[in-house]
Amino acid sequence: MRLLALVSGGGTNLQAIIDRVADGTITNTEIVGVISNKPDAFALERAKKAGISTSVVSRKDHPDKEEFNKALKEAIDSYKPDLIVLAGFLVVIPEEIVKAYALKIINIHPSLIPSFCGDGFYGLKVHEACLSRGCKVTGATVHFVDEGTDSGPIILQKAVYIEDGDTAEVLQRRVMEQAEWKIMPKAIDLIANGKVRVEGRRTLISEKVEL
Ligand code: GRF
Repeated sequence: MRLLALVSGGGTNLQAIIDRVADGTITNTEIVGVISNKPDAFALERAKKAGISTSVVSRKDHPDKEEFNKALKEAIDSYKPDLIVLAGFLVVIPEEIVKAYALKIINIHPSLIPSFCGDGFYGLKVHEACLSRGCKVTGATVHFVDEGTDSGPIILQKAVYIEDGDTAEVLQRRVMEQAEWKIMPKAIDLIANGKVRVEGRRTLISEKVEL
């Protein structure tokens, strides 16, 4: 399976994918490229270090959103991906791309969807909202991308306990370590081996998942 990752930031989820492909935890998968909308994203350094082809499609290099969307789709198409992984990609995927790659785009969100998701919920904002609500448990979700925001069929979720005194930064790191970096690689391996079926808004996983 040809995997293309889209990134905007530090790339710790990308690194988890790179490491799990390297150690054989993720099978039947080749990371064929990494695209970022930010030329200075550290995720690009991680890709280069792993010998993976990289591209940058930056909004400021295009006169308007339509031209940017066109350039993004051309860059994606050039890698001929079987699966597109949004690993901390902070750009809303244009509808044309969602339709062209229906059920071939997955995203990682740092909460247990449907809590704390949708417009405006990204990065630390998710954890700040969770802490201010006084939640005792949070977690992360991998889901297929559809035309909405964080609204596609859920593939995997993993819960993480909130501890007294947690700051948003501390909680973000725990959710990454205990949830994101486990469920994203697992979801990729399941998809790469044909073990995820979508029925309506739900998915059926054809193996017992131990996370
Ligand atoms: C992660 O918290 C992920 O849940 C969210 O964006 C962040 C990306 O972090 N989508 P990284 O770039 O993978 O380190």
